Amino acid sequence: MAVATLDGETDFDGWRKAARAFRLAGVEPAAARFVVAGTMEQGGLFDQPIAEEASPTPDERRAFNVPKEFVDLAQNLILHRSADRFDLMYRLLWRLKDEPDLIKVISDRDVADALERVKNVSRASHKMKAFVRFRQVHDDLGEAWVAWFEPPHRVLEKTAPFFQRRFTTMRWSILTPDGSAVWDGEALRFGRPATRDLAPAEDEIEDFWKTYYASTFNPARLKVKTMQGEMAKSYWKNLPEAALIPELVVASSVRTETMVATPSPQPNSRFARAVAPDVHLARPDAEAVPQNLDDVASGVQACRRCPLYRDATQGVCGEGPKSARLMIVGEQPGDQEDLAGRAFIGPAGQVLNAALAEAGIDRSDVYVTNAVKHFKHEPRGKRRLHKTPNAGEVQACRWWLDSERRLIKPQVVLALGATASLALLGRKPAVMQERGAPIDLSDGSTAVLTVHPSYLLRLPDEAAKSEARRLFIEDLTAVQRRMR
Ligand code: URA
Repeated sequence: MAVATLDGETDFDGWRKAARAFRLAGVEPAAARFVVAGTMEQGGLFDQPIAEEASPTPDERRAFNVPKEFVDLAQNLILHRSADRFDLMYRLLWRLKDEPDLIKVISDRDVADALERVKNVSRASHKMKAFVRFRQVHDDLGEAWVAWFEPPHRVLEKTAPFFQRRFTTMRWSILTPDGSAVWDGEALRFGRPATRDLAPAEDEIEDFWKTYYASTFNPARLKVKTMQGEMAKSYWKNLPEAALIPELVVASSVRTETMVATPSPQPNSRFARAVAPDVHLARPDAEAVPQNLDDVASGVQACRRCPLYRDATQGVCGEGPKSARLMIVGEQPGDQEDLAGRAFIGPAGQVLNAALAEAGIDRSDVYVTNAVKHFKHEPRGKRRLHKTPNAGEVQACRWWLDSERRLIKPQVVLALGATASLALLGRKPAVMQERGAPIDLSDGSTAVLTVHPSYLLRLPDEAAKSEARRLFIEDLTAVQRRMR
């Protein structure tokens, strides 16, 4: 038996190195063993460490490259809590040499088994994003947030960067039986396993949360099976609101009847602000119509109408005077807006500001907002690349844009680009053809469409850019005249 000792349960680099050496030395899967340092399994009496002479020749090295799909799969598979996952990974690696396309054969038993386990890992990571509950603590440096969480698979390191992006400006720790993640505002560190008693169990915010959950729990939408599927019982013990569920389920039929006649409660914005660090809180209360811009702001932070909140740092609402006669609607916050929580402050914002100034419009008189309030993006190395929101996301977010329009009552709404136009008109117009022409909206205001400023930034040719900019300013100037 050839044995490799790994530094930890999720030591992928250690596994990769050892597995490669095993493979090149011809160690059959049945004869390969991977053990984790410090566990009971380590150091069996008859185990042989892999011989040094297993070092591959350069030719062998070249001949044995694994596809990227396998590396991606194995990096997630190692997070599965099953004891035999290392063996499955090695079996796949072993077979890849003769079956280079193996990973694509989803009917293969090993591949199917691996994919199923990876699916469970990914589900565990997703649930962690949804069900981690932070509690407030105070230390010498001030306020901090601590959560205890028990993931079914070892997804702490995979999922912690999500919380880092989400709660960049706070200090927080997530404690789990596998290890802990600590964000101090500057660096994310991983430390030792923890026990539940290290995390606070109750605090003031928890009481707020319970009250809020009970008041927004919508009995008419209650589907016990769906709810249990989403929020499996194993998670309940760490969710403060879960204690209320049995009681609320019993009470739900009575509440459904009374609810029909009773107007739904307004969102508790004080609560929504107070509990902002809690990622799963505040389900949108579809019936609670925002009464002012503070309600919109707190509602957007708590919004779960579409999945975009999951990867955004925060929701970004509009900004400007409540009495603004002009509202400008962009697409969605970009990278800088997502971090700062303010619309149009990045490169597209600079283009917009300059063009507004040339058209004689003072930005501080304008209410500037976006069709979609959370930043949709995908990682590319260290960068977060913008992704256009889809029609479903635009539709979900119309609740907030419509609320802003109802509260501000602008005379003119200027839509920048196709997404904003879709949000305003409910159809995707040909912006280039319809730009500049006033369109009556049902609330009595007028929509005007034009291009998005980032379109100007993207044009590669200086002459085309300058012409596009001239037309953009012309559209803005026409809007300015209309406002007089
Ligand atoms: N692009 C937008 O549409 N909105 C912003 O806030 C920034 C860039």
